[in-house]
Amino acid sequence: MAFAEETLGVDAAVAEYVRAQESKDQLRFLTCGSVDDGKSTLIGRLLYDTKLIFEDHLAALEKDSRKHGTVGDEIDLALLVDGLEAEREQGITIDVAYRFFATDKRKFIVADTPGHEQYTRNMATGASTADLAVLLVDARNGLQVQTRRHAFIASLLGIRHVVLAVNKIDLVDYSEDRFNEIRKEFEAFSSGFDFDTYQAIPMSARYGDNVTVKSEAMPWYTGPTLLDHLETVEVGEHELDAPFRLPVQWVNRPNLDFRGYSGTIASGRVAVGDEVVVAGPGKVSKVRQILVADAEAGEARAGEAVTLTLADEIDISRGDLLSGTAARPDVADQFAAHVIWMADEALLPGRSYLLKIGPKTVTATVTEIKHKINVNTFEHVAGKTLDLNEIAFCNLSLSAPVAFDPYEANRETGSFILIDRMTNQTVGAGMVWFALRRASNIHWQSLHIDKQTRADRLGQKPVVLWFTGLSGAGKSTIASILEKKLHLDGKHTYVLDGDNVRHGLNRDLGFTVTDRVENIRRVAEVAKLMTDAGLITLVSFISPFRAERRMARDLMAEGEFIEVFVDTPLEDCKKRDPKGLYAKVARGELTNFTGIDSPYEAPENPEIHLRSVSDPDVAAEQILSYLRDNGLLTSSQFADTGAYI
Ligand code: ADX
Repeated sequence: MAFAEETLGVDAAVAEYVRAQESKDQLRFLTCGSVDDGKSTLIGRLLYDTKLIFEDHLAALEKDSRKHGTVGDEIDLALLVDGLEAEREQGITIDVAYRFFATDKRKFIVADTPGHEQYTRNMATGASTADLAVLLVDARNGLQVQTRRHAFIASLLGIRHVVLAVNKIDLVDYSEDRFNEIRKEFEAFSSGFDFDTYQAIPMSARYGDNVTVKSEAMPWYTGPTLLDHLETVEVGEHELDAPFRLPVQWVNRPNLDFRGYSGTIASGRVAVGDEVVVAGPGKVSKVRQILVADAEAGEARAGEAVTLTLADEIDISRGDLLSGTAARPDVADQFAAHVIWMADEALLPGRSYLLKIGPKTVTATVTEIKHKINVNTFEHVAGKTLDLNEIAFCNLSLSAPVAFDPYEANRETGSFILIDRMTNQTVGAGMVWFALRRASNIHWQSLHIDKQTRADRLGQKPVVLWFTGLSGAGKSTIASILEKKLHLDGKHTYVLDGDNVRHGLNRDLGFTVTDRVENIRRVAEVAKLMTDAGLITLVSFISPFRAERRMARDLMAEGEFIEVFVDTPLEDCKKRDPKGLYAKVARGELTNFTGIDSPYEAPENPEIHLRSVSDPDVAAEQILSYLRDNGLLTSSQFADTGAYI
């Protein structure tokens, strides 16, 4: 028997496809188990017995949509291609195979997640759209660590229906006792998982017992076959029953007379005349018109791509969330969420990531890892960082408020991804638990005297000169000479120096990666305040990571952040060793030292690149020239002549 084994990471396409087909009765499920539990055989058996083996997944999509005739196959294919492209842009390489098959009663989409080491990431991908999980167990081996892990992740991702498939029952002589033993063990540990339906089935995927045909060999089993169960299990239509949510993907404004809000309805239904509101600003209007595929419709429902026009002109832009007026989403800039980490490089609290929730993208940091969850024992464990495949309950802080629902209430509007700002890769997936209200009554206090007024009084343009480089590179020496020159020119300055700030504000921080991230986050915020005060601020920190320097840059106004790379080779720094620290490292008395056993990520495009500085005075002059050339030394007595001290 040759089963199609292609693997295609098309989660986005599948999600679209699933939405487009929402009106059909269909079941999305995933299979999981350890490597040799027989998943492929089981899926193959289902496909074979239902006589719907397709050449590949494109063919599957095409045929399925033609068969049911609601969506032209061209559209579906486009969605598939779009999905693939979106995945490629995001750099997601996820090893989940999707297969499609149908019986007279239902259509099925199976996500087959590999059982190897990448389990969590892959499973999270497959599970986020699934209604039901088939957990496979080899009857000879019984429950494995992976079975517990998969059950836990399925529960965490909101799967409310499980099948415990006790496979290879032929190899234990179709033993009822063995089946019951495994079933009871599973029931004992999964009782807290909140599954709505649960069915244990003894089977032999290899010989077809109880997969699609009732087994003659197990008269003691009176329950359904797997296919019977999959065809009849009531999973409910959560997306339809949930309150109306439309994430606005696009504001459609072809001419002045038409303004439509386009997107795919994430949940619920909407009808002409319904009151709708934009989450956040909260202005209410009424639906005037609903367009589904360019035709007017009286109403629309979850999964449909629509364009709405409203009775009033209200300010709605891409990324906003439209809802009904009764059950509104939460709006907050802080929330608690479960985060599944999917990148080799660990999640660092304090580091800034992009957070994408629906069509909206903001920057976000994990402010606290409340606890990690041991996926094998379900115990809560303490942790400062989150490694590949780990799961933690975290607090997140966002750069702007977003609208969302708790994941439990709405998987569409309650899930988000985290994206690395440097590589643009998806590094984490999250499920919102609840909004944090702690800071919700803190408003930005507007003051009469603003940055411009303060800068004008000081007669200067505030900038941040951000010195980065290895320890002993000469950052502080150059910054100090430069400050003196600026001071003599009547400028108002301040130097924030790593060693000094670490004596006070940052005295609680050491040199782990996490502490360095927090070190830079704090000093960047201080630099921002000083710039706001109108000062020329010189920051002299190793600041070894690109991500944090980028974060600091983004805090400042355009053109205000000047990165100065003091590029002194490690060998020279070692020779100079002004504080005797390299000698200590050599004696083994100091670890985690930048450039030795802790990384330094050199800037790629610094505004000022000082290579192998031998004379700090010359380097300071070089920086002054830069400031002068870029019009940042206004009203300097030396601005025009170019001469200086
Ligand atoms: S940063 O990496 O977090 O930006 P920061 O600039 O604040 O570092 O502090 C660096 C200074 O701390 C160095 O100049 C050195 O004097 C001192 N230091 C002590 N231990 C270390 C270490 N393990 N790595 C780097 N610098 C260290």
